Amino acid sequence: GKDKELIRGSWESLGKNKVPHGVIMFSRLFELDPALLSLFHYNTNCGSTQDCLSSPEFLEHVTKVMLVIDAAVSHLDDLHSLEDFLLNLGRKHQASTLKRRIHKSVVGESLLYMLQCSLGQAYTAPLRQAWLNMYSIVVAAMSRGWAK
Ligand code: HEM
Repeated sequence: GKDKELIRGSWESLGKNKVPHGVIMFSRLFELDPALLSLFHYNTNCGSTQDCLSSPEFLEHVTKVMLVIDAAVSHLDDLHSLEDFLLNLGRKHQASTLKRRIHKSVVGESLLYMLQCSLGQAYTAPLRQAWLNMYSIVVAAMSRGWAK
């Protein structure tokens, strides 16, 4: 109902510009937790966070993350159809530091930060809650992949 409308409405323009919004999200993530930067092995030789954020491999991952969000938004009516995909994705993010981060919502916070930056006035408490609800479903599905 209402949650889905809020999510779809806010994603409509954001989703057309995935990379810049994803970069905002990940910049925030590395600000909150700089140690995450080194989990991207290709980033270990970066001179600065800024260099990392503009490396092609990194931007490719940003694009992948945004495509997962895009898939979740377009499957709001049947999120369970993404179960297998998300379970596998969780498995690919097994690294202990990584799963704790995704779980303990530094990633979720960064997603919300990006939404807040991009939506301005349209970022309301119900909208925030709607996104959090979707995010926790996605994370729950991913965590079934790393529980084993
Ligand atoms: C793959 C790290 C969060 C979606 C990867 C890879 C790494 C990685 C190292 C493999 C290399 C690559 O493709 O760049 C991280 C880190 C994260 C994070 C450090 C944040 C703490 C996420 C989130 C999503 C996501 C939140 C989506 C919800 C993907 C996808 C792939 C991937 C779709 C490709 C998997 C495949 O090859 O099939 N990630 N990731 N990542 N990540 Fe992440």
